[in-house]
Amino acid sequence: MIPALSRPVWAHIDLDIIENNAKILTSLAYPSQLCAVVKANAYGHGAVEVSKAAIKGGASWLGVATLEEAIQLREAKIQAPILLLSQPHPNMIAKVAQYGFSFMVYTELGLQAAKEISKSYRPKMHLKIDTGMHRVGASSQEGLILAHLIAQDPKLTLEGVCSHFACADDDQDSFTTYQLDQFNRFLSLLEQYDIDPGIVHLANSAALLRYPQTHFDLVRVGIALYGYPPVPFGSQILKQGLKPALSLKALLSLLRKVPAGEGVSYGLRYKKPQECTYGVAPIGYADGILRRLSLNGAQVLLNSQRRPFAGTVTMDQILIDCGDIENVKIGDEVVFIGTQGKESISALDLATHLETITYEILTSLSDRIPRFYSDKECNEWLLQFD
Ligand SMILES: Cc1ncc(COP(=O)(O)O)c(C=O)c1O
Repeated sequence: MIPALSRPVWAHIDLDIIENNAKILTSLAYPSQLCAVVKANAYGHGAVEVSKAAIKGGASWLGVATLEEAIQLREAKIQAPILLLSQPHPNMIAKVAQYGFSFMVYTELGLQAAKEISKSYRPKMHLKIDTGMHRVGASSQEGLILAHLIAQDPKLTLEGVCSHFACADDDQDSFTTYQLDQFNRFLSLLEQYDIDPGIVHLANSAALLRYPQTHFDLVRVGIALYGYPPVPFGSQILKQGLKPALSLKALLSLLRKVPAGEGVSYGLRYKKPQECTYGVAPIGYADGILRRLSLNGAQVLLNSQRRPFAGTVTMDQILIDCGDIENVKIGDEVVFIGTQGKESISALDLATHLETITYEILTSLSDRIPRFYSDKECNEWLLQFD
């Protein structure tokens, strides 16, 4: 989708905050290294800009989901090692290796594809072990076979061994401990067979913050880099000084008075017993302002006050109940995520309204929303809407 610069809707990302978050996370991880997880356009924040800021703040690796995401970073001249966080399709492994990206491997098919291209390129593999999440990863038995096959082939490199936690962000401490035990057992097996595991990594944001014994050589951190807690351990994030970097705003495009008792928007579900002034913001569910927000009582900030969404969010427009705000006018700033006066709304607030997670709110923000990284650039662009 092409960013729409012709309407006053924008996201602003403070890269100093990202850099500072990376600094804090680097020091929390030390002596382990930090892999900044920048998949899904850096959780909606902009992969290239965030990667550069995270590296400035001390990150030494970047984690992505797809080959395209990795290529985008290399084409932006980012030199840090890039790890694809799952096994690519076997037919794509040649291309991944050709670019020099590291990737996770966990099946014989994947390994076979890597072997086939190893005459021309050196595939850099991180063996992923399933320690209990049962999403992707080889069982310990399968993993040991794969590790032997890699170790026996001089053209293959076992660059790392890793796993992923299922519950590090909730209260099931015992399952996280169980996964850690499983992982340590696998590492002992490798040691027994004298196989060098290379870079060992297991922790995500929650584990970085809560389980120091899981840090090993590298931690793979996403949500905390963006200043949000892996639910529900919010206070820990604040204690560490991590801050959200993204704000989402629009300018009011229209104001309308609707007579007492008349409904507004699809389904006419929202009505007031008295005449009411509604503001229109040119943003909708196609931008990632999910439709259910209006049904669940979410609010925006307008003239430094919290105001409710009025009626159903539509694809490109939303209505705001302006209540008795005085002097509200077309062109006023509406904040969906961010601060206005003394009030703030965070992506976590929106997630809480929808009984979902912050990750989903942030990654739902569509490419139609332009992202700005400099106040000056953003303010200059906004001048055309005066
Ligand atoms: C394999 C892997 N590692 C690390 C992460 C980062 O997780 P978080 O954003 O909770 O830090 C993810 C995110 O989904 C992941 O899939």
